[in-house]
Amino acid sequence: MRNSKYNSVLRTLLYVKPHWYLIVISTLAGVLKLTLPLMLPQVLKYFTDQVLAPDSIFTADQKIHEIYKWLFLMLFCFICIYIPAAFLREAGSQEVSNRIMHTMRCQLYDHLQLMGARFHQENKSGELVTRISSDVEQVHGFIWNVATNVWIDSIILGVYLYLMLCVNIPLTIVAFITLPISVITTREIRKRIRKSSRQTQDEISGISGYLQERMAGFAVVKLFHMEEHEMEQFGNISRTIYRFTRRRNRFSSLGVSVTAAFSEIISAVIVCLSALNIINGKMTIGDLIVFYSYLGYLVTPLRRFADLNVVFARTIAGIERVYEILDSTPDIVEKADAVPLDPDAKMSIDFSHVTFCYNSENSVPNLNDISFSIREGEKIALVGSSGCGKTTIVNLLARFYDIDSGSILLSGRPLQDYTLSSLYGQMGMVFQDTILFSGTIAENLRYGKPDATLEEMEKAAKAANAWDFIRKCPNGWDTLLGERGIGLSGGQKQRLSIARVFLRNPRLLILDEATSALDSESEQLVQEALDKLMESRTSIVIAHRLSTIMGVDKIIVMDGGRIVETGKHEELLQRNGRYSELYNMQFGEVIGRGCPSLLSEPQTSGLPRPAAG
Ligand SMILES: Nc1ncnc2c1ncn2[C@@H]1O[C@H](COP(=O)(O)OP(=O)(O)OP(=O)(O)O)[C@@H](O)[C@H]1O
Ligand SMILES: [Mg+2]
Repeated sequence: MRNSKYNSVLRTLLYVKPHWYLIVISTLAGVLKLTLPLMLPQVLKYFTDQVLAPDSIFTADQKIHEIYKWLFLMLFCFICIYIPAAFLREAGSQEVSNRIMHTMRCQLYDHLQLMGARFHQENKSGELVTRISSDVEQVHGFIWNVATNVWIDSIILGVYLYLMLCVNIPLTIVAFITLPISVITTREIRKRIRKSSRQTQDEISGISGYLQERMAGFAVVKLFHMEEHEMEQFGNISRTIYRFTRRRNRFSSLGVSVTAAFSEIISAVIVCLSALNIINGKMTIGDLIVFYSYLGYLVTPLRRFADLNVVFARTIAGIERVYEILDSTPDIVEKADAVPLDPDAKMSIDFSHVTFCYNSENSVPNLNDISFSIREGEKIALVGSSGCGKTTIVNLLARFYDIDSGSILLSGRPLQDYTLSSLYGQMGMVFQDTILFSGTIAENLRYGKPDATLEEMEKAAKAANAWDFIRKCPNGWDTLLGERGIGLSGGQKQRLSIARVFLRNPRLLILDEATSALDSESEQLVQEALDKLMESRTSIVIAHRLSTIMGVDKIIVMDGGRIVETGKHEELLQRNGRYSELYNMQFGEVIGRGCPSLLSEPQTSGLPRPAAG
């Protein structure tokens, strides 16, 4: 654990390395910013001991001259040195953290693009967003506190120590022993107050949830005549909050008084000891002023030192979470000698004894000994009850996951031999859940082909039955979708996603339940678009509604991760096996609903989804 923290710090420092000069500038500027105000007590001492003292050697005019001289000098220092130094301290550190955050954010995002389906499934998208946004922000705390403040404060404490020692050695020792004790005690008390505040806050949040529920459900309370019980219950909850709040209030009042008294006591002791030293002639009144002022200045760097471990732990924990992602290795990697998939080669797919399991700990594989072939231009359908492994087959074909054993050949070569970009370049997919990004309709379509012209887009939209509604949108192609834009119906979204695939013009098409979520009217428009999309393309169709796949070249029937039957619709029906079982189940349901017209024209009608999947 300690070792990993050490490594994370070293690793973060490597990010800092190219910007080291900014860190140096920021640190030096920080030292200057904090040392300049030390001038004030020294000037005060000079005025008290030399200029304004009853036995001063200066004449009245000289005194006025001295005062103006120091006024101008201080104004010069604060305007011409302090302001630029304070600016450089802030801007330097912020620039470094901003640059590093930019680098890390991009690295994280680039890395996430490489990660496969398995990774995205294991990591909730919300958590990944937090890592890119807020965990990366922790770099700022690291740069501000760990990379710069520590050095600034160390130097500053050294300067204070030197200046105070110059005034009086025993007094300095007293101050440097008692002040840290006071700072640490204050910190501990603050921690306790925070803890008890959190408890109170939790209780208060609890009561609002309780109240909301009871107010909304007042009818139940009345009907069951539980008013008395409710009053008693609420009284108990409120009493608990009262006790927690009382404890917190007492604690914080005590804490505030003790810590305030602590620093006053130290000041009182120092003032009195200084006074004694003045009587003994070991200090002047000016020295007392200097010493007393520095005592106040000392508190800030000491407090920051005391809090350093907390700040360090918090920032490094955030940064470590970023490294965790950056260190995760993509499970799907392109071979070093991967070749592009030749767009002119004959498209063929051969699954041979493929076995695959999502989770290596599972004893039963999700796909078991799967073998089938598809030739160029063929259309095949995968059917079977829910969970039998249809989507898994296309996940493997798209290399979202790699197989455990067996082989998948594409155009005669193992899938893993191809570059991922060439593979995806020739593959088009339409799923049940359409994913469109917020942005304009045109931007979403161009996801299929970034350099598509308006003519090409219009052609694709027409082919996908999407042109009619795009034309009617308020700003046509430039209509915004998503949160800030208009909402589209499920069918419109699906047709837009089909237009996107048309633009890409893939040779291999995969449709996974593309029409399942639609009502029959939008389904018809989408189905027409899909039929056009499938023309002259090698296609794999997954559909629960058997009516949509009856015309395909081959139907592969699956059950429990295995292929149980293969053949054309009529052959499979005659075989009286699993397929005819599924078929009868769907038609049985239709008959049960009294919809005989569908029975007489099964080829042209969309059948309802079967009850058992
Ligand atoms: N990401 C995953 N991690 C673990 N198991 C999974 C994952 N995806 C699917 N499975 C399991 O693999 C089996 C096959 O799932 P698959 O999604 O291929 O079924 P399907 O035939 O497409 O079902 P449906 O018709 O409901 O879409 C199921 O038992 C499912 O629980
Ligand atoms: Mg599925």
